Amino acid sequence: MVVTCGGSIAAASVRPLEPEPGMHKRDFLSLSDVTPAELDSLLDLAAEVKSRPEAYSRALSGRAGVLIFEKPSLRTRVTFEIGLVQLGAQTIYLAPGDIALGRREPAPDIARNLERWVDVLIVRTFGQWVLEEMARAAKIPVVNALSDLLHPCQTVADLLTLRERWGTLAGRKIAYIGDGNNVAHSLIQGAAKTGLHLKLATPRGYEPSPAILDQAAADARATGSDIRVVLDPEEAATGADAVYTDVWTSMGQEEQTEQRRKDFVRYRVDAHLMSLARPGAVFLHCLPAHRGEEVAAEVLDGPQSVALDQAENRLPAHKAILLAVLCGREPRRRAEVRR
Ligand code: CP
Ligand code: NVA
Repeated sequence: MVVTCGGSIAAASVRPLEPEPGMHKRDFLSLSDVTPAELDSLLDLAAEVKSRPEAYSRALSGRAGVLIFEKPSLRTRVTFEIGLVQLGAQTIYLAPGDIALGRREPAPDIARNLERWVDVLIVRTFGQWVLEEMARAAKIPVVNALSDLLHPCQTVADLLTLRERWGTLAGRKIAYIGDGNNVAHSLIQGAAKTGLHLKLATPRGYEPSPAILDQAAADARATGSDIRVVLDPEEAATGADAVYTDVWTSMGQEEQTEQRRKDFVRYRVDAHLMSLARPGAVFLHCLPAHRGEEVAAEVLDGPQSVALDQAENRLPAHKAILLAVLCGREPRRRAEVRR
């Protein structure tokens, strides 16, 4: 297919996420929408963009992206903004309250205005349904920069980090200890697509969504991935190649903090839990972290931790996602939006 990204090297390397038949664009809302082959290509592209960033410096020249964030962010915001600029595009950040998404104006109306000026919407919000509504309304791609349900961009960076360490992913074992939250959900989907084995240890009542697990099961059968949910963190960590955790209380759940501190007390990743993993196992955390809560300081700041590599890889991962949804599309096709 003809790829309309600027720059000859970039154009040759990008395999765009192809729209469904009859559609004009591909969104990036959930890894469940991405095939194993597409995810593999996305990881290849992220690695390539990381090793030769200058080859992509004009790939999105003339394009613009808007970030709409209803929750705080350090890593996701900075890497999408810098990523767009490093690809030659312009960027605007709309902070929580700037446009009062859904209160001042319905989300689909906001999307239909923005598509007249910019090429991609990068949205961090509460309900996944808000992203889906915007994606249905807009003729430009919408990227999920975190919802209460999913954090797919994080998982792409995590898989890139693990691939750099291990070369390949299939057959490796990850233990996820803690809350069955947005980060866990996208990790489940990513593991199922790549043949990773994943054991999640969560307290009763904090398990991942059964719908996400069911959906991942079909991919897992095809790739040979084994995904299980257990109660015992030691069972999950034993023999793992990587141990992953995330905060006990996610953004928007602040009123549950005290209850969660009690419910998760056995789910802290400390040196003892890491000692059950395989020698050379790595520790992952999407950050921000709370030392002394979900992770002991000696683990987060210790030699096994790759948390800052994950953070670093948000940049090439996000550049790859932007290229995959934007290459192959004409910049802001007026005829298309006015159809
Ligand atoms: N991991 C992550 O998404 O970090 P931010 O919330 O700072 O973007
Ligand atoms: N589960 C966390 C992830 C932050 C990047 C949250 O939603 O707050």
